[in-house]
Parts: sequence; structure tokens; C-alpha cells
Amino acid sequence: MVKRDVYTHGHQPAAVNQHAKRTAETSAAFCRHVISATSRVLDVGCGPGSITVGLAKWAARGSVTGIDLGDQILEIAQQAVEGAGITNVFLEQASVYELPYDDESFDVTYAHQVLQHLTDPVFAIGEMARVTKKGGYVAVRDADYYTMSCSPESEIIDEWRRIYRRVARHNGAEPDAGRHLLRWFHQAGIQKVECSASAGVYATKEERENWGLSWADRCLHTSFSEQAVEYGYATREDLEALAGGWREWATNPDGYFQFINGEVIAEI
Ligand SMILES: C[S@@+](CC[C@H](N)C(=O)[O-])C[C@H]1O[C@@H](n2cnc3c(N)ncnc32)[C@H](O)[C@@H]1O
Repeated sequence: MVKRDVYTHGHQPAAVNQHAKRTAETSAAFCRHVISATSRVLDVGCGPGSITVGLAKWAARGSVTGIDLGDQILEIAQQAVEGAGITNVFLEQASVYELPYDDESFDVTYAHQVLQHLTDPVFAIGEMARVTKKGGYVAVRDADYYTMSCSPESEIIDEWRRIYRRVARHNGAEPDAGRHLLRWFHQAGIQKVECSASAGVYATKEERENWGLSWADRCLHTSFSEQAVEYGYATREDLEALAGGWREWATNPDGYFQFINGEVIAEI
């Protein structure tokens, strides 16, 4: 039976709409050079598909297979693919723990902000390596929640970060995944690993609204908020206060937010 982890964010609109603003340019630039026009790419945990669509443009004469766990998120991804008029994307329901593909099926296997949600990222890396051709690449990028910080400093947003990391860890996941990627690849038996890092920055009105107002909503209306209450890490009143703190930050023209994403390209 395939392992089912608890997905901390949930697929409610407040989370999915924020993820859908990502693009291949914002989220896969670190591995652009290993994707050619003819590459066969696997996008693991493709979510709403906004990155998948961009990968498919890069691999214009190849293909991108996007997998995710649930019907609903795959329907949203399908709409993104059709909306962009892309014909070289295939979407399938599957788990990274049991990829329904033969060994060495893909040139590049990519996972963006996925390993941080898994209870067994090392096994997942092994499975991604299995379906990747010899001489091909596994490319992953994950945030490090511990590094998330803002100006003006906000005790409420610090408290949000503390609660988010407790909830993720309660689910057996690692919210600071970005810093652990190299070690996890080594544990999976993969030695040819190149690491980089890039900052996420939210500093314009649009970026503050994208991130801050999304989190105000996510503190109230997603699996994260339900789990925070269920696990006893926050009350509904606490979550209202977190949402208020996010709204205050998001509407402050001086508001600035930053964090580190760890990135790995491993040659298989
Ligand atoms: C934070 S979202 C990232 C979505 C997309 N990659 C992006 O960056 O916008 C994580 C995604 O991983 C998916 N996911 C979680 N566990 C998974 C698993 N075991 N197998 C495949 N996908 C999984 C979730 O359903 C979710 O859509």
C-alpha cells in the first residue's frame, strides 16, 4: 500500500492560488540548463501546474509528465495546461513513493516544494532517481522555513513561523528541508550533487499581497489552520491574530519578506 502523508498546506483555494503564481522562470531557473528542447521531464508534485506549463515550453519538442496525489489539484493543473494551449503535458495521479514508470524513463525529474512535505524524503529521492536515465538529472528546490523573516519585524509573524514548523513536524515532515537536501541525496546513495540556494523575496505591493494576504487566508481556511487547532498548537483566536498580523504586514508599503530556498541538481 502506498504511504499517505498528511499534506500540511492542503489544497484549499487560499494555498493553491498562491502556488499557482509560480512559474518555471521563478522556480526552476536553477535547473534550466539541464532541460533541453527534447527532454522528457517528470514534474513530481506538480500542484496547480503553473510551473509544469513553463517546463513544457522549455521542453517544446519533448514532454512533461506532471504527477500529484489528488483529483482536484490535477483538474486545476489540467485547466492551466489547456489555458496555455500546451499539448506536450501529461498529468497523472501518482505518489512519489511509487512512481508508475519504468526505470530510466525521464531525462530530468523535478520536484518543487515537495520534499518538505514528506515523511520519507530519502526514499522519494531514490524513487525519483530510479525513473531518471543514467546521465540524467534529479532537480529539487525546497524552502527553509526557519530562514523566513520580515521587516518591519513582527512578533505575530514570528509566532506564525513557530506554529507552522510545529504543525509540519507533527506531520512527520521537515519544514526546513532546503538545508537538508544534500544530506538526503547522500543518504539515498547519490554522490554527484551540486547545491545552490536562492532567496524568495516579497517587496512590492503585488508580492506582499500574493504572499501576505494568502497567508492571512491560509491561517483561517486551510488544512494548516485545521491541523494547528487539532494538534493543540493554536486556538481559533490565535489564528485570527496570525491572520491579522499577516494583513497588517501585507498592507504596509514598507513590508519586506525574505527566505532561503535550497536547490540541488544531482546527476544520476
Ligand atoms: C507546496 S505544493 C507544490 C506544488 C508545485 N510543485 C509548486 O511548486 O507550485 C506540494 C505538492 O506536492 C504534492 N504531494 C505531496 N505529497 C506527495 C506525494 N507523496 N506524491 C506526489 N505528490 C505529492 C501535494 O499534493 C502538492 O500539490
